[in-house]
Amino acid sequence: MIADRRIDESTVVLGIETSCDETAAAVVMGGTDVLSSVVSSQIDIHAKFGGVVPEIASRAHLEIIRPVVAEAMSVAGIHHDRIDAVAVTVGPGLIGALLVGVAAAKATAYALDRPLVGVNHLEAHLYAALLDDPNLEFPAVVLLVSGGNTLLLSMDAPGSYRLLGATIDDAAGEAFDKIARFLGLGYPGGPAIDRAALEGDPGSIDFPRAMLHDGLDFSFSGLKTAVMNYVRKNPDVSSNDVAASFQAAVVDVLAAKLLRAARETSARSIVLGGGVAANSLLRSEVERLAGEGGFRVALPSRAMCTDNAAMIAAAGWYRLRDHGESSLDIGAIPNLALVADTVRTNRAPGHRERR
Ligand code: KG4
Repeated sequence: MIADRRIDESTVVLGIETSCDETAAAVVMGGTDVLSSVVSSQIDIHAKFGGVVPEIASRAHLEIIRPVVAEAMSVAGIHHDRIDAVAVTVGPGLIGALLVGVAAAKATAYALDRPLVGVNHLEAHLYAALLDDPNLEFPAVVLLVSGGNTLLLSMDAPGSYRLLGATIDDAAGEAFDKIARFLGLGYPGGPAIDRAALEGDPGSIDFPRAMLHDGLDFSFSGLKTAVMNYVRKNPDVSSNDVAASFQAAVVDVLAAKLLRAARETSARSIVLGGGVAANSLLRSEVERLAGEGGFRVALPSRAMCTDNAAMIAAAGWYRLRDHGESSLDIGAIPNLALVADTVRTNRAPGHRERR
């Protein structure tokens, strides 16, 4: 058992992620060396419903989890004896989806007689940047923007973070998904708006930038209503112009608050995480503003921004090193918070409204 061994650069962790609509498994050595990362997306299955259907997600995870884990092992080119620990997302997420990953991880850990490590999905997003940039300098300010969360955090070291701001209503990704659906651009909304915006004029419609100069919290529901009202009053408006102007409004607020938080906390690095961190405009704006402000930026690759198991294995390595293993009777926790009061203002990643 690993309990008798040091957790070091040679420690190999198998990560498993099933919190929402991606079934993923990865093998990571030493917390940062990704030997394999396999992601099977259910986007096609849920697209016709305009959002994730929890029951269908659980069943799809169940069908694919074993082949996905087998592929992660095969791509990593290691025998199962080489696995030192099994890390799994225990929350937040859809209960039925989480349970599939937790059961698979427990069974694997038990069969291999290796420790199990329960990982917080939100915390894992913070480790995605470390996978691409193991020499990340702390303190860092992290903007975690996904379909269920919009969080601004100060990170002093792996495992040590403080909440600076959060959305008071919709998450940024949720706003992208709802506006894309309203404009008929398809699912998932973020990439669809990103693509449409390339053909549109971001200055054509002056949508509101809510709470731009007001603290470090965010609000996107007013913007969503403003977009819908504008389109209803101007039915002939170009969807590309609406997408570009909407995206510009979201990015202006996210980037401005991220930079302000970095200045206020004297951060050495600026980090993006979560699905919305794949947004082209957000990435280029944050790089531009960080460059002007003299901050180092860690932009995880797009594959590491969206849900994956490499970040789960990485977070599991740190958790194992700093806190030890989890009990085999650990359960799935759908509304697991990252810091004490994040549940108050944020929904679980799987909580996306459907038509
Ligand atoms: O982190 P993630 O894969 O899943 C969780 O929510 O946990 O994030 C998914 C969200 C969706 O709302 C999706 O529309 C958004 O990330 N997203 C994007 C882009 N790619 C994904 N939003 C804006 N621009 C993108 N390129």
